[in-house]
Amino acid sequence: MDAALYDPDHGYYSTRASIGFEGDYLTAPDLGPHLGRALSRAMADFWQQLGKPHSWDLVEAGAGRGTLLRDVLASLERERPDAARGVRPAIVEVSQHLRAQQSSALDGRDIRWASDPRALGPIAGVLYANEILDAFPVHVLVRTTDGAREVFVSVHEDRLVETLRPPNPPELRYRVPEAVPMGGRWEVSPRAEGWVAGLAAAMTRGYVLFIDYGGDEPELLTRFGSGTVRGFARHRLIADPFTEPGEHDLTASVNFTAVRRAAEGAGFTFAGRTSQREALLALGIRDVASRPTTPIDRLRDLGRRSAIDTLLDPTGFGAFQVVCFAKDAPEEGLRLFATRQGSVQR
Ligand SMILES: C[S@@+](CC[C@H](N)C(=O)[O-])C[C@H]1O[C@@H](n2cnc3c(N)ncnc32)[C@H](O)[C@@H]1O
Repeated sequence: MDAALYDPDHGYYSTRASIGFEGDYLTAPDLGPHLGRALSRAMADFWQQLGKPHSWDLVEAGAGRGTLLRDVLASLERERPDAARGVRPAIVEVSQHLRAQQSSALDGRDIRWASDPRALGPIAGVLYANEILDAFPVHVLVRTTDGAREVFVSVHEDRLVETLRPPNPPELRYRVPEAVPMGGRWEVSPRAEGWVAGLAAAMTRGYVLFIDYGGDEPELLTRFGSGTVRGFARHRLIADPFTEPGEHDLTASVNFTAVRRAAEGAGFTFAGRTSQREALLALGIRDVASRPTTPIDRLRDLGRRSAIDTLLDPTGFGAFQVVCFAKDAPEEGLRLFATRQGSVQR
């Protein structure tokens, strides 16, 4: 998975990652500026919770085509010029190929780039990431009658095939929950967990916010031990990850229990978790400044509503998880986690 995604000469993200309607898969920022507008309100809230510092970092990790950061910054400037004034935008991105697209989306802005969040440090402010944790390589473990085994990849008669061997590193065998059935698969991503923990070292004070698909361990266990590694090419699901490695995206559902453990173990405090649907509603994604009056405005409004409905769809983007951690910053009172009734979910 690591080679298929990040090999410098052949990896998908290193060479050809293509996101958007014309590409391999859609992400929420492709549906227009609505996600960015709603998230900019969360960013302004974080800034306020941090005591309205004169200057603060706003970092997007894994920024794809750069459209989300562009939309967040534009909306912050429009709605909260007080917060926008001192913002220092930056991107953590490993793909040179995508950095070029980000640079053109954010043309004219003063942006810093780094491959590792620690190179930007110390970060004082906010780091957010949409669909990055699912892009970290996973180890696939299988429960067998001989104990835990790991799925390795080898070549047989010119084809890539799975081979089971003892897990490497050996400690991974302790990571398979008891409830995984015999023959069932369980994925772990020490790389994602290490990356999350590393954020605590990169950040002096502030918040991290992750948006992604996946669940906590009990939810993931209800899948009866089927693995979640899958590919996407030209908007089609590729169930066999060995199909044309490097030609398409590969992803695995995020284990938010493991992410939380890693974050808390590194010194973050848990500040809340909810669905994308609830978070975006709490941030007023449906609010409009004025009602459309002319036919063309009504048509635009229809397009806007349909995009927002897609972002809120409880069986699609709306089911994504939004998780926040704080470091030396208040965890209470974040509008992002306020339900529509006004109470705060923890
Ligand atoms: C699935 S894409 C999501 C892109 C974007 N956030 C969006 O919503 O459209 C994953 C992004 O994470 C980046 N990425 C993957 N691993 C990374 C890492 N270790 N550090 C920083 N960026 C990474 C990829 O290059 C890509 O930009």
